[in-house]
Amino acid sequence: RKHQSRSELLAGKKILISAGPTRERIDPVRFFTNRSSGKMGYSLAEVAANMGADVTLVSGPVALETHNRRINRINITSAEEMYHVMKEQFVHHDIIIKSAAVADYRPKITYDEKMKKQTGELHIEMERTKDILQALGEMKTDQFLVGFAAETTTPLEYGVKKLQKKNLDAIVINNVNMVGAGFEGDTNVATYVNKQLQQEEIQLASKHDVAQKILTFIARDMKDGFS
Ligand code: CTP
Ligand code: CA
Repeated sequence: RKHQSRSELLAGKKILISAGPTRERIDPVRFFTNRSSGKMGYSLAEVAANMGADVTLVSGPVALETHNRRINRINITSAEEMYHVMKEQFVHHDIIIKSAAVADYRPKITYDEKMKKQTGELHIEMERTKDILQALGEMKTDQFLVGFAAETTTPLEYGVKKLQKKNLDAIVINNVNMVGAGFEGDTNVATYVNKQLQQEEIQLASKHDVAQKILTFIARDMKDGFS
């Protein structure tokens, strides 16, 4: 077992992690969603628990399981449900990491009966969901708040904008166009940026190893009193 000395880096800390996609219902049999396996969030939860933290994992629908007794999993389906759970849990945690792929829009109308197909085109009107991370940034007192950013163009520029706009302590920026990054895979490559705009490149590695690096940077930045 490597890094045994690091294993208690987060002892006594309470960490809230959101993972996976959300589903925005159209009718009983159809929904809009985002590409997300939940693997990055679940890796963060497992590694944080192994580093001594107590973890609350707020999870969208994913094909993953957790068996760690230090992880308390709460399942949600829609962005609206995730919003309520995250807001309620927020004040009880020291570190909050929003790795979930939250839908930005949902159908304006949800039908209780299955929609029947008609001739011609179908137009579905969409409305914005709440920005959960933005709301948490506004609520923040002494928590350490970490966001994710999935970008295809000028990732660093857009990522830093999100860090500042959402009042975050750090952001993990994924260039989802890069080989081995983001989405369903077992690997990731990312840039961690804290609010002092100190940048750390995380080289291509398993999501488990990437999670270990992210959590080590968080522990460092909390210790320095950056939050
Ligand atoms: N996020 C959130 N609630 C939303 C949308 C996003 O909490 N309704 C969070 C994500 O969990 C992530 C961060 O905001 O931690 C950035 O998500 P991303 O989709 O990259 O950015 P957006 O702010 O949604 O902007 P855009 O999709 O237009 O790039
Ligand atoms: Ca988005």
